Amino acid sequence: MQLENRIALVTGAASGLGLATATAFAREGATVVINDLRLEAAEAAASALGEKHFAVSGDVSSEEAVKAMVETVLARFGRIDILVNNAGMPDSFTPTVDQTLSHWQRLIDVHLTGTYLVSKIVAPSMIAQRSGVILNLNSIAGLMGLPVRTAYSAAKAGIGMLTQVLGCEWGPYNVRVNAVAPGYMMTPLTEKLIAEGKIDEKRIRRRTPMGKMGTAEDIAEAMVFLASDRAKFITAITLPVDGGYCSWGRHPTPSRSTEERRDDHEP
Ligand SMILES: NC(=O)c1ccc[n+]([C@@H]2O[C@H](COP(=O)([O-])OP(=O)(O)OC[C@H]3O[C@@H](n4cnc5c(N)ncnc54)[C@H](O)[C@@H]3O)[C@@H](O)[C@H]2O)c1
Repeated sequence: MQLENRIALVTGAASGLGLATATAFAREGATVVINDLRLEAAEAAASALGEKHFAVSGDVSSEEAVKAMVETVLARFGRIDILVNNAGMPDSFTPTVDQTLSHWQRLIDVHLTGTYLVSKIVAPSMIAQRSGVILNLNSIAGLMGLPVRTAYSAAKAGIGMLTQVLGCEWGPYNVRVNAVAPGYMMTPLTEKLIAEGKIDEKRIRRRTPMGKMGTAEDIAEAMVFLASDRAKFITAITLPVDGGYCSWGRHPTPSRSTEERRDDHEP
């Protein structure tokens, strides 16, 4: 029980990485508040976790909605010990010259402004209690250049710097701010991208040194560690959880099973 008696707010937690993180936090003893745009799905997720957990709706990119959400959580539980800024949406995978400004703006609003807004509105209570942990979702797309992932990558890179700035600013108050940068993890979001032919599972596996896609639980376990007291002197960092994806530098691909080599007609 590494998170006993903690109150954790996880945004966008009705599915995928957020849900896995909420589930792992609950297993470690935390009371979890599940935020999502989709209230019904958030409520179903909270009740599946057990009676003490709670659901709140709210678009993280709306200042008004975020204020209402945080007020609701503080009124009910009196404190927020852990915030996970997880809510997000995928990019359109359209060439940059064909993208619309409204698409760019929505991605920036949900990922970058959303992370900024929820952190800014939750932080005063953490600063007052002289403790708190904020965990952000960066991505390998925020660490390296992926063609056509324009707004998504720019937003994630911004989240990486926001993590550093806020970690430094709030360190004196014992409020730690860190990020994880997932590689390609199998979630409803990536399953949809695979089904639409926007990403190729086989090529991703071959490009990843560990030779496979990650699971939502791989991210959740990193989140538990960073949220726990075991990470009490770690702040302002981005931790890649990517099976080595970002570190691979050699051409062409790192991992090939014998079967895949055969598929490729390579010696
Ligand atoms: N899955 C991956 O491989 C991967 C890789 C790198 C980063 N990430 C990041 O991890 C986070 C979660 O991704 P996922 O794969 O679990 O996606 P997902 O689509 O399964 O879950 C995202 C959730 O966020 C909610 N949401 C969307 N916009 C919202 C808003 N404005 N306000 C509140 N909730 C909102 C959705 O309803 C959904 O339930 C995202 O920030 C994503 O960019 C995912």
